Amino acid sequence: MILVCGGIKGGVGKSTIATNMTVMRANQGMDVLLVDADDQGTASDFTAVRNETLVEQGAGYTSIKLYGAAVRSEVLRMAKKYDDVVIDVGGRDTAGQRAALSMANVYVVPFLPGSFDVWTLESVGKLVEEARAFNENLQAVCIINRADAKGSDNSDAAAIAKDTPGLEFVDAPLGNRKAFRSAASNGLAVTEFKPSDSKAIAEIKKLYKLLFDA
Ligand SMILES: Nc1ncnc2c1ncn2[C@@H]1O[C@H](COP(=O)(O)OP(=O)(O)O)[C@@H](O)[C@H]1O
Ligand SMILES: [Mg+2]
Repeated sequence: MILVCGGIKGGVGKSTIATNMTVMRANQGMDVLLVDADDQGTASDFTAVRNETLVEQGAGYTSIKLYGAAVRSEVLRMAKKYDDVVIDVGGRDTAGQRAALSMANVYVVPFLPGSFDVWTLESVGKLVEEARAFNENLQAVCIINRADAKGSDNSDAAAIAKDTPGLEFVDAPLGNRKAFRSAASNGLAVTEFKPSDSKAIAEIKKLYKLLFDA
């Protein structure tokens, strides 16, 4: 399966989701290719840190950097050799993101509640509809990241997301939890990080199930 973590906002959790899904998939015994299509290189940096943390066993997946049209041509060529490809794109409408969307099976778009992020979903929905012209089975979902523990921001944001054409809102939020940050800065998925945060683990597992078992 080809999973793309994207959107047109930075700092919303695309790389967090891409790296967690990659590691969790690899830990299930799958042969995974993680494609870093963001020139900021977060996914590649994560892998470098992971290789330092897990010197003996190694990252457990293959990581490459690709930009622009090469995202499509190279992934199409390599996808046959892997069980899964996870593509982490930058937070802009780039040729690389469009190339990724042209062949993705699943596109996941995180957004933050209580911010202007939710309004960017409309443009992302348009990108999806354009991609569907030649990738008609593209499944596109949006989820709340860094969900607030209290207040109505989550439900307000969810209501807007549900009305966005082109994107399906799914109820699999990730809470705003330190464990996501701490795990990432050690090159680990939140499922691997100690001391474990059972809420964070439950949330990421729910998202994993939704994206891979759908
Ligand atoms: N659910 C979360 N809880 C706490 N921190 C988070 C969460 N998701 C992401 N972060 C942190 O927010 C920052 C931006 O996340 P990142 O995944 O790099 O976003 P993007 O790839 O969309 O730019 C990172 O420091 C990351 O560790
Ligand atoms: Mg990123």
